[in-house]
Amino acid sequence: MPAPIDSNLIILRTLLAAGDEFVSGNDLADALGMSRVSVWGRMEKMREYGFEFEAVTRKGYRLSKKPDSLNEWMTQAYIDPGLDLPSLVFLNSIDSTNSHATRLLANDFDAPFILLANEQTAGRGRLGRKWFSPPGANLYLSFAARPNVPPNRMQLFTLWMGVFIANELREWLDLPISIKWPNDLYFENKKLGGMLTEARIDADAIRELIFGMGLNINLSSNQLPDELKETATSLSALAGRPLDVNKTAAKLVQAISTAYTQFLQGGVRKQFENLWPNFDVLKGRTITAMVKNKQVEGIASGLDDMGSLILKTKTGKILTLNSGEVHIARPTQ
Ligand code: BTN
Repeated sequence: MPAPIDSNLIILRTLLAAGDEFVSGNDLADALGMSRVSVWGRMEKMREYGFEFEAVTRKGYRLSKKPDSLNEWMTQAYIDPGLDLPSLVFLNSIDSTNSHATRLLANDFDAPFILLANEQTAGRGRLGRKWFSPPGANLYLSFAARPNVPPNRMQLFTLWMGVFIANELREWLDLPISIKWPNDLYFENKKLGGMLTEARIDADAIRELIFGMGLNINLSSNQLPDELKETATSLSALAGRPLDVNKTAAKLVQAISTAYTQFLQGGVRKQFENLWPNFDVLKGRTITAMVKNKQVEGIASGLDDMGSLILKTKTGKILTLNSGEVHIARPTQ
């Protein structure tokens, strides 16, 4: 049996579809199968969550204000209802969406699912770092699944997810968002978002997979802690206007779900190889990296079949890095 659709969601979908036009109280009542008074009552309740509705006699209603931060109904209203998506779980505040997804998977929660949070109190980055996760301005989400495929099937997983998502954001916002190998969303020389993939592997299969993403959306530079001021940015800073957090959440949910489905079906390698050069922030740049506790410098020269970074050193040596962190030493040669 399909899940019952929330009346608030029907109100929002109906009003969004009408755009600037008013929708009559009768039409809304018909769409919801309830009285006009009950519809009005629902809207009154929704005001508590940051919605405002303009009501004009003999015309009806239209949506005049949407919530600024993550809102379950608003995000769902932006999602194409025809898509078959993982279930969505919305959280106001959580330690870390990746940690919470791990707990839910361990407790046999039905997967796949996507957790979305307004705030993280212990957001985690790669290499044991913290992920700055204040409420209101950004998105923190984790996709969780039980893929049951051999670990070697996952080689390009994070990079594929990153490129697919960056490509969707490019098409939507017309901004040249790129990827800094291995897990950052970048714009020019600043970090916009990060990805953290975690897995539980046993008996040669990936039993549990969690793909986490943090994306700075409306964060202004004065909200950033000092240590991030020079290196971090947000989508709104690049677009030059505030962005709708819930529309962005809807875009991400759809992109993540499509990217994962395509990845599991197989055959994305060609598509990845075609896309990657257009998203590779490091290509042709002189970078530094730690290799066996020694700092090496070289020119980033694309990826090998496994998604490892190819580095050409000054002495002509070719090194491949399969994880870790690289720094851009000098701009394009
Ligand atoms: C990085 O760049 O180091 C990776 C950052 C990943 C952050 C996201 S936010 C949602 C998910 N939950 C976490 O605790 N971390 C990831």
